[in-house]
Amino acid sequence: MIPHSRPTLGQAEIEQVVKVLESGHIAQGERVHAFEQEFARRHGLDNALCASSGTAALHLVLLALKIGPKNEVIIPSYVCSALLNAVRYVGATPVPAEIDPETYNLAPADVKKRLTKRTRAIIVPHLFGLAADLEGFSELDIPIIEDCAQATGATYKHKPVGTFGKAAIFSFYATKVMTTGEGGMIVTNSREIIDYARDFREYDKTETDKIRFNYKMTDIQAAIGLAQLERLESFIRRRRTIAQKYQKALSSIGFRLPPEDPEHIYFRYVIDLGTDSAPMIRGLKGKGIQSARPIHTPLHRYLRRDGYPKTDEAWNQCLSIPIYPSLTDQEIKRVIKSVTETYEEVSRAGNS
Ligand SMILES: Cc1ncc(COP(=O)(O)O)c(C=O)c1O
Repeated sequence: MIPHSRPTLGQAEIEQVVKVLESGHIAQGERVHAFEQEFARRHGLDNALCASSGTAALHLVLLALKIGPKNEVIIPSYVCSALLNAVRYVGATPVPAEIDPETYNLAPADVKKRLTKRTRAIIVPHLFGLAADLEGFSELDIPIIEDCAQATGATYKHKPVGTFGKAAIFSFYATKVMTTGEGGMIVTNSREIIDYARDFREYDKTETDKIRFNYKMTDIQAAIGLAQLERLESFIRRRRTIAQKYQKALSSIGFRLPPEDPEHIYFRYVIDLGTDSAPMIRGLKGKGIQSARPIHTPLHRYLRRDGYPKTDEAWNQCLSIPIYPSLTDQEIKRVIKSVTETYEEVSRAGNS
């Protein structure tokens, strides 16, 4: 079976982890600090803070922005439930908004309609590795939290994503662009946000009894992260090469391919079949290819709300096929062949 996702790990990561194990210091320490510094440097920012996950990073940012029960936070409906959870952790009201069906990213025009006096922030993911319309959001004059969980290393107008909002978060979960197993990062130009987030991240040796968390990353994870960061550019090159191969082979089949944008890093290769993707997922599984709906459940359904036709359509029709640096040329050929054949089979069955 060719899996839908697979981390790209090698000798460099193994050596860095062994060094940490041999040092005897395995919890948060010097490697975490080095990872933060290198991550901030690569983004041209002063501050970065590691966390135990992308969700934890988002929770810390919401706390640092002092968002609470009286506030609303706008999030896309077409995204994973981590955003819904983080907004609820601080007691704020999540307000789901619609996507732009061309890019699957949050649509500024729809967000604008949902702004109220209580709106305190907009969480803007760069979904599937393509930067959202950041210019459109900057006009709304509400603090933006960039969610770069799926877009580490991507750019918007040639500047790294994560450098446009009030703060940004990243995820290093095993399936992400680069990984630490589990892990996250906050970046921001604001010293105040970082200091606040750091204060919430760890509970020990504090003067006050304010409620704090244990959201720390370990040096073992950071060592993997530092090794992955060194390889990030090559990871992105490989993702783009695979996307080009898919583009060339699949453009005449009859379904819609991802937007062709030179700044896209193709964290996911999402095709729009124009019809329910379930039969295609089953058919591909039968041929040894794991594929998936790229979003498990739209958030408005968890909240039992109607009125999100673009999100519902994307959820129904979109299919994510394997794309990651360790996918071999042989595997790419198998994916192309299987997708082409399965689409023909499914279309034929649908027409008969
Ligand atoms: C857009 C987005 N934001 C946040 C997260 C949460 O990251 P983590 O799984 O590291 O908590 C994810 C993870 O899938 C994600 O895709």
